[in-house]
Amino acid sequence: MIVRTIPALRRALDSLRARKATTALVPTMGALHDGHVSLVRLARRRAAKVVVSIFVNPTQFAPSEDFGSYPRTWKADVAKLAAENVDLIWNPDVRTMYPAGFATRILPKGPAVAGLEDRFRPHFFGGVATVVGKLFTQVRPDFAIFGEKDFQQLRVVTRMAGDLDLGVKVIGSRTVRERDGLAMSSRNVYLAPEERRAAPVLYRAMKQAAGRLRAGDDVAAAIAGGAELIAGAGFALDYFEVRHAETLAPVASVEDGPIRILVAAKIGTTRLIDNIAV
Ligand code: PAF
Repeated sequence: MIVRTIPALRRALDSLRARKATTALVPTMGALHDGHVSLVRLARRRAAKVVVSIFVNPTQFAPSEDFGSYPRTWKADVAKLAAENVDLIWNPDVRTMYPAGFATRILPKGPAVAGLEDRFRPHFFGGVATVVGKLFTQVRPDFAIFGEKDFQQLRVVTRMAGDLDLGVKVIGSRTVRERDGLAMSSRNVYLAPEERRAAPVLYRAMKQAAGRLRAGDDVAAAIAGGAELIAGAGFALDYFEVRHAETLAPVASVEDGPIRILVAAKIGTTRLIDNIAV
């Protein structure tokens, strides 16, 4: 079932929960790929009913970013979700999410100001926290599933759900990769063929750095090696960082772990992000 208004969503949720069924929400912006499918499958393992939201959220894009050109593949998305027997698709429009006069914004701190994505996209986490906060209060799911590929986002929404007592357990789901290691992303369609060929360097660089850290190299040397590999493949690097996996604070050594390596880099006009555990 597809619903587009708040009253229709309430009715649909009441009937889904008629027998006190648990629900899991998978928030998306559409342009669904196998990574999203894996989120839906994890949701299905956690809860009796699965709700997927599809909403390209304007407030998390800066005016210079790709809101207008963000891939929109509605028919294919619905077919994929139908194949997964998703119980409900929540597809509000911008006026439903942000009615005239809308004047409230959630401003996350902590992991949202860790000096990673926030340094390059200062508007981003306020937009994400606000829309995810709304999705959580609209759907009131028991569980919400987010991909680990957007690792800082996962930390931000986990913190927000706890801080605001939203009663939802946020669960991270493993990144799904192409055969050559490139993390699946709706934005991969922007890559020209030669950029696509270069793109797996991000994963290779993180794996190399993780290996060096495990072998006892210091953090600065592992970072420098990764950054050099990425720049050599034609990427302009935004960051290549070794951080604490929970707090996202910088770490001096692997002993300060659990450790996550996070990267963001641009090739041509496409910006990619990725991360791995050490
Ligand atoms: O990761 C995304 O697709 C988006 O940031 C999200 C969580 C659906 C919020 O718009």
